[in-house]
Amino acid sequence: MTAIGDPDTVAAGVTVGVIIPAAGSGTRLGEPVPKAFVDLHGRTILEVCVAGVVDAGVATTVVVVVPADLVERARGLVPDAIVVAGGAHRSDSVRAGIDAAGSASEVLLVHDAARPLTPSAVFGRVVAAVRSGHPAVVPGLPVTDTLKQIEPRSAAGSERVVATVDRDLLRAVQTPQGFTRDALLAAHADTSGLATDDAGLAERCGIPVHVVAGDPLALKITTPWDLRIVRDIVAEPPPPVE
Ligand code: C5P
Repeated sequence: MTAIGDPDTVAAGVTVGVIIPAAGSGTRLGEPVPKAFVDLHGRTILEVCVAGVVDAGVATTVVVVVPADLVERARGLVPDAIVVAGGAHRSDSVRAGIDAAGSASEVLLVHDAARPLTPSAVFGRVVAAVRSGHPAVVPGLPVTDTLKQIEPRSAAGSERVVATVDRDLLRAVQTPQGFTRDALLAAHADTSGLATDDAGLAERCGIPVHVVAGDPLALKITTPWDLRIVRDIVAEPPPPVE
């Protein structure tokens, strides 16, 4: 495992803070503990996620944001990270992470704990794109299903299609999302702003958001089905060494 503050990263001349929001309850997962503390064959989702971030070798600082009553437990699980308490909404948790990261990082990544298998290459692409001049960068994948827009649900709960959306112009967006420090601060300056991702807040401020290639392994654990897939992948034996 590479250490936080890896000399190669420092030598590359950029300080990168990675904020990991992990304070969600995970209601849709239906597990007895908050999502980041669910087991993946002996390690929590949080531990696997932080190990992936550290192995990516880009981070000079790692901040983990967890439910207030689990701060001490998280400190025991990920001792090399700064651990702080989150808030009611994802955006509140990210703001707590920005405060804890301090002012030293020129680039800030926000990475959902719920995407523990994100490959190192995705982190590398996002950091490289921010360093090349994009203030906000998201990894995204083309959409493979046909997408239908529906009208707002009727009282009876029925759904009626109003349009078929051109999927060629859509991307399913993942994390880590990368920002210059100034761009992330601007995106979160309006503390009433709620969004399912940080790039959404940046867009509202007029900050251009650039897409780089995502990866299917960066899937987000939301439902029991997602958890089953991720557990199966974690349990796979490593490929034979040639
Ligand atoms: O709910 P969802 O899966 O979209 O959450 C994405 C990430 O944001 C998860 O890692 C979750 O733990 C985190 N989150 C948070 N604080 C909240 C809600 C979600 O840190 N209040």
